[in-house]
Amino acid sequence: MVALQCQYIYNTSKLTFSRNLPKLQYQSRKMSTSDQPVFTTLRGDLASFHNTIKTSKRVLALCGAGLSASSGLPTFRGAGGLWRTHDSISLATPEAFARDPGLVWQFYNYRRHMALQATPNPAHYALAELARKMPGFQCLSQNVDGLSQRADHPRSQLQLLHGTLFDLLCADKRGCRYGRVDFTDPVCPALAIPTSGVDPTSTQARHQATPTALDISNASIPLPSLKPSDLPHCPQCKTHLLRPGVVWFGEQLPFSVLETVDSYLADDEPVDLILVIGTSAQVYPAAGYVEDARERGAKVAVVNMDSGDVPAGGWREGDWFFLGDAAVVVPDLVEPVIGRLGRATAGEA
Ligand code: APR
Repeated sequence: MVALQCQYIYNTSKLTFSRNLPKLQYQSRKMSTSDQPVFTTLRGDLASFHNTIKTSKRVLALCGAGLSASSGLPTFRGAGGLWRTHDSISLATPEAFARDPGLVWQFYNYRRHMALQATPNPAHYALAELARKMPGFQCLSQNVDGLSQRADHPRSQLQLLHGTLFDLLCADKRGCRYGRVDFTDPVCPALAIPTSGVDPTSTQARHQATPTALDISNASIPLPSLKPSDLPHCPQCKTHLLRPGVVWFGEQLPFSVLETVDSYLADDEPVDLILVIGTSAQVYPAAGYVEDARERGAKVAVVNMDSGDVPAGGWREGDWFFLGDAAVVVPDLVEPVIGRLGRATAGEA
């Protein structure tokens, strides 16, 4: 196991940081026999979960890529983890950007394009509604896809641990500090995703509303090598490249987000419950929040398609595990608080 660069120090009831702020880190885990869940199934123990959420006031959700999987966005590990021939994680570092900014921008421009094509699913809407109904709910999201925001999740109850694809920052983050929100697709002309190349005068083209972008995550689709001069530059310092506003491995998480989560955990009131939704819980500091919440009294409920993806500290007596698609399971879990989702947000025609 890789040692964490950050240490939390409990100072009476306050949670403070050691001198080093936590940086994004990956810690791979294999499930051992002691990690076997105190299994409960969705059908079997929904009632006991409902009793708990009905009486809860302070609830956290730690969300990962599985939350957006049924919106059609690939996850990082497993089947969706390879982009062309590259492990997605290997492209998510400042070193990769310094080495080949063109390739890293092609990867992130593709992810922006995919995220803009996708729509929020019932789990995003259910969590947004939970936030409106429960002032003590905070959603800690590792997702950078903007889908929770597009489901109108109240911003003060959504902590974007890993930033967002739709912030563009000057790569000289410390010096220039330029940043803007930007939904332009493609980010610049050189990053335009090649399309099917149908002759625009053909009958086939007349029946296509917009040309279909090719799936450039597949290495058999040729992509040009881009030079730094092809890429977006900072309009303020006019020297450095712009980069996506996501937190890369080895970088610090946004200070204001960390402060908000810390003060939530350090509150005198205990945490009643943490929902761990669609995350492999292998990236820190996010994965560590499950144990932090337990220490503040929280019960733990995991929603995942894979029963091998255990909470970072392993299973404990009384944990719930709900095996299934977050888009289906989450609205059922929170129904006692939010009621039935409306037809439009539940994904019904
Ligand atoms: N419903 C629920 N869970 C699902 C679904 C689904 N429809 N589909 C997949 N999952 C689960 C997988 O079983 C896995 O446990 O979602 C999890 C996705 O795990 P990862 O791909 O590791 O994504 P995540 O945990 O969000 O990664 C954390 O790592 O690469 C970095 O910064 C990136 O924010 C990301 C962080």
